Amino acid sequence: MPMIFETVVTTQSPAGEVHLAPMGIRYEGDEVLMMPFKPSRTLDNVLATGRAVLNLSTDVRVFAGCVTGRRDWPTLPLDGFAGRRLATALAHVELELVRPQDDALRPVLAMRRRREVVHRGFPGFNRAQAAVVEGAVLVSRLGMLPRDKVDSEMAYLQIAIDKTAGPHELEAWEWLCEAVERFHAGAQGAA
Ligand SMILES: Cc1cc2nc3c(=O)[nH]c(=O)nc-3n(C[C@H](O)[C@H](O)[C@H](O)COP(=O)(O)O)c2cc1C
Repeated sequence: MPMIFETVVTTQSPAGEVHLAPMGIRYEGDEVLMMPFKPSRTLDNVLATGRAVLNLSTDVRVFAGCVTGRRDWPTLPLDGFAGRRLATALAHVELELVRPQDDALRPVLAMRRRREVVHRGFPGFNRAQAAVVEGAVLVSRLGMLPRDKVDSEMAYLQIAIDKTAGPHELEAWEWLCEAVERFHAGAQGAA
């Protein structure tokens, strides 16, 4: 199995509207493979413009924010590439679509790495950041996962939050916990 890396993908609609989405990607030789589930604005934007920007970021507020309705993160324009990068990205990669492979559920977008730019160094692994990314995956799948699993995994992830989080991780974690509570409250109301 090739490794999957969790990134934030920035795309733009043909009208120039910026869209951010956390996305797991694979590196295959010189290419980046993106696998958006349909329906997806990221997919629509890449098919329409042929471009995307991969943001490598430790600002986990963006991951937690995007899955809890907070998508408005500062972005910056790029030199000679019609796209925008996340302002807090440690590095970004400009991507051009080379091979869209359609699928009823999950198309694969093979993209060529046009240019990579490093903006600041990687400070090291932080367990709370990893916990927020895991929590964001859980929140993006609340409708598909049993409540027990969500609760027990959130309780386990809380340990890394308590031991190693900074202010950004605490804020992101709070958004995720609120989203889980809201979902469960809604699910109970509907039952
Ligand atoms: C860490 C992480 C990884 C994700 N990876 C994917 C992915 O590979 N494909 C996908 O369709 N959605 C993925 N998601 C969920 C999307 O970010 C979310 O559903 C998003 O809204 C995609 O739809 P959009 O392109 O319409 O924004 C991921 C979410 C998180 C938190």
